[in-house]
Amino acid sequence: MHILAIDQGTSGTKAIVVDAAGTVLAIAEEGLRPRYLDGGGVEQDPQALLASVLTAGRRAAAEAGVPLDAVALANQGETVLAWDPRTGEPLTPAVVWQDRRAERLCAERAAHAGRVAELTGLVLDPYFSAPKMRWIRDELTTEGVVTTTDTWLVHRLCGAFVTDASTASRSLLLGLDDARWNDELVELFGLGGERLPEIVASDAVVGTTSAFGPELPVTGLIVDQQAALLAESCLEAGTAKCTYGTGAFLLAQLGGSPARSASGLATSIAWRLRGETRYCVDGQVYTAASAVRWLADLGLISGAAELDAVAAPSGDGVLCVPALAGLAAPWWDAGATASFTGMTLSTGRGHLVRALLEGVAAQVAALAELAGADLGAPLTRLRADGGLTRSRVLMQAQADLAQIPVEVYPSPHATPLGAAACALMALDPALDPATATGGWRPSAVYEPAWPAERAAAYLERWQAAARATLSVNSEEH
Ligand code: G3P
Repeated sequence: MHILAIDQGTSGTKAIVVDAAGTVLAIAEEGLRPRYLDGGGVEQDPQALLASVLTAGRRAAAEAGVPLDAVALANQGETVLAWDPRTGEPLTPAVVWQDRRAERLCAERAAHAGRVAELTGLVLDPYFSAPKMRWIRDELTTEGVVTTTDTWLVHRLCGAFVTDASTASRSLLLGLDDARWNDELVELFGLGGERLPEIVASDAVVGTTSAFGPELPVTGLIVDQQAALLAESCLEAGTAKCTYGTGAFLLAQLGGSPARSASGLATSIAWRLRGETRYCVDGQVYTAASAVRWLADLGLISGAAELDAVAAPSGDGVLCVPALAGLAAPWWDAGATASFTGMTLSTGRGHLVRALLEGVAAQVAALAELAGADLGAPLTRLRADGGLTRSRVLMQAQADLAQIPVEVYPSPHATPLGAAACALMALDPALDPATATGGWRPSAVYEPAWPAERAAAYLERWQAAARATLSVNSEEH
């Protein structure tokens, strides 16, 4: 069996063709560049998203040169747009998950934050889909339907009007316990008149498409972060991974229990497969590779490939809080801004690069500790994937600061491999998640080299720096 698995991400779209043994036969990538607007806006051109899916998918299919059995699609999770369901034409730009312009809409509903958390497992924050859906309705158009990008892309591929349970659980409109659209939440966001997509499992076949050649079933729909969690075989409660992509996202498996986080993390659906729903907690660093790209745009490095060569052996007292698009868990402050502190006349770009990498690692370490608190036992190791795992400096800093081994996933394609695993399960009823994703060994393991006291002292200083970036009263945090 061969699956065309497409990872439609924030910074690009990647398509792979993979067989049932997990061997990747072909890879095609199309870059995307979001537009960053004053006022916290982050937008993408929906037509560019669709074109990237079609181009990358067709190139990978052609390069593989084998008959395909299904197409799978991983999506960005919380990026939304309005579109015309009769023509499939977009009516607005795609408003990206990093967009903070719906902050005011969340603030207006602050009195309901507790109830929202109880129903959804999430936090009332513009990161999630519903505030941005409301913002589109208020600011851009009342026409057509307003959905996450997966629903639109799948509609363009096969005419279905669906979203998968993991994506729906990132919306603030889904009741986490029954995994259904919740009327109370829909009303809270003023979305009562909206047509919402049917919620499907990640191993559901939702239609067929001839967009990539001969007619193929469309299946394996899942959020990108959850897809990576699956690919990295985080199937037992307490197993965790971090994907270092545009942002860095730490997810820990909860198993069958939708336990709400007591630590300020988000609980959502990991996936629905084989008729069973699995849950996870997640914490987010909104800017990881996008912070590296920002460094490059400022001219401090030529690109991510230069990070390790430029990074100084130590930050020499410089600390970075990479809050270039606000802070997520556990601060949830969309108005927080990034900082570099501790600079002197001897500070050079190498210190700044080192501090930024350590800042990402420190934030992930803080999230790992909170995930451990929610799980009732500290994480014992962290699996890692994504482009920035190529930075040895970052991976070592991660092990040093989190004080656990970091195991790098051997393939750079965790997300599409997770989506492909869902599609394989759709086609082969005998396959279970462990068999569909098992059998990998880390390509590298980074062991903590810092003593625990040094890590604790660094994190204490970093936490103080993080509190200083908040836009709201830090006493509350
Ligand atoms: O929540 C947003 C996240 O899933 C986006 O992932 O890979 O596009 O950075 P990525």
